[in-house]
Amino acid sequence: MLTPQENERLTRVGKGTPMGELQRRYWHPVAATEDLEKTFTKRVRLLGEDLVLYRDRSGKYGLIAEFCPHRHASFVNGIPDVDGIRCSYHGWKFDGAGQCTEQPNEPEGSTFKDKVKIAGYPVEEMGGMLFAYLGPLPAPLLPRWDGFENPRAIRTVGWCYIPCNWLQVMENSLDPVHTEWQHGKYQEFWEEQRGSKYAISRKHLKIDFAEFEHGMYKRRLLAGASEESDDWKVGHPVLFPDILAVGSGGGKLWKMQTYQMRMPIDDENTLHFWYTSYDAPEGLDVPDKLRNRIPSYEVRYNDDHGDPIRDNIDAQDVMAWISQGRIYDRSDEMLGTTDRGIILFRKMLEREMKKVEAGQDPINTFRDPNAPAPEFQLERDKAHFTDGFENLQYRQYARWSPFFRELCDLFAAYNEKRLRDALPSFALEHGAASTGE
Ligand code: FES
Ligand SMILES: [Fe+2]
Repeated sequence: MLTPQENERLTRVGKGTPMGELQRRYWHPVAATEDLEKTFTKRVRLLGEDLVLYRDRSGKYGLIAEFCPHRHASFVNGIPDVDGIRCSYHGWKFDGAGQCTEQPNEPEGSTFKDKVKIAGYPVEEMGGMLFAYLGPLPAPLLPRWDGFENPRAIRTVGWCYIPCNWLQVMENSLDPVHTEWQHGKYQEFWEEQRGSKYAISRKHLKIDFAEFEHGMYKRRLLAGASEESDDWKVGHPVLFPDILAVGSGGGKLWKMQTYQMRMPIDDENTLHFWYTSYDAPEGLDVPDKLRNRIPSYEVRYNDDHGDPIRDNIDAQDVMAWISQGRIYDRSDEMLGTTDRGIILFRKMLEREMKKVEAGQDPINTFRDPNAPAPEFQLERDKAHFTDGFENLQYRQYARWSPFFRELCDLFAAYNEKRLRDALPSFALEHGAASTGE
């Protein structure tokens, strides 16, 4: 339980708030690169700021305040130039730093433009995604997480808008037991009402949490699994403060990584990305279109009637987060023993906010260009992730991926080959169905 003041500190992300300033020390995903291929501008709201992301005619990306300082027309209707963007209303031009560089109808030699400056933030592309940094300069380096820049990988970018505060989404990632219920017993209850049986829930015998230099690992020992299982020995990490990294599932022998990246739009809204990098093994016949495109697709969590899609793991999570309210009142909660990961995470956030207030860099920020890419451990063999790639993907965000069918076929072909070639016991090892986090 927190005081109302502590809850405010952790949840508010506007400029000048303690959490807003901590969040401004990190790069945030703002769009898939593909989103800006057919158009030049996109409205972006990040950390409570209304912005426009644009691509200029030389292919450079910029992120500037949405409204022109002249008479407040939106740059979403702007005209891209070779080195910036013009407001379409009267042609004022701005560069990526938000500096006005031309005012076509002011007298020649006028220096008025030099006094006109709006917010402008750095943007970088990595692996089919665009990231922005809204904090004080010089910006730290964009971390090159494993999987984003692997040219052999099949990569996809799912996303959805969620009408609740970012911390509800992140605390879920420090709450291992919810999988047993929200994706286990609840799924069974739902299947029962549809007249089918589906034994999926597995009890958590032990849970554990450990801080490390990039965030925190959570680990679980599930009923029926050994202490040697990756879920217990390796676990999966929260990369501080907004990313959950998830390892392989279904395709046991095929490395895949998912980065669940949660971008605080403002105090009451979150943009959730699922970036997945499927590392197709050598020798597998991958259709060109899967490697030549990094698709952007919307992940649905409600059906056409506006009801939650109750048989989908990610939709089940979103359903729970929204049900807690726009900003859930942590002064009125009653945490139990299994919530210690959440408590630890809140303490980390508070500690890192204090570091920023003291003028220091928080954890998981990078400034040495010669340092190797940051590393972390990631489970490869999830004991609770074993009911077959196709079933599992259908019950997850990937159901909406334009590559869904092709990926299922590739995994089937690959696993069948491995079954034949090397692992005759593979099918025996894959007896139980279960959930996917
Ligand atoms: S409103 Fe943008 S140039 Fe006039
Ligand atoms: Fe979940």
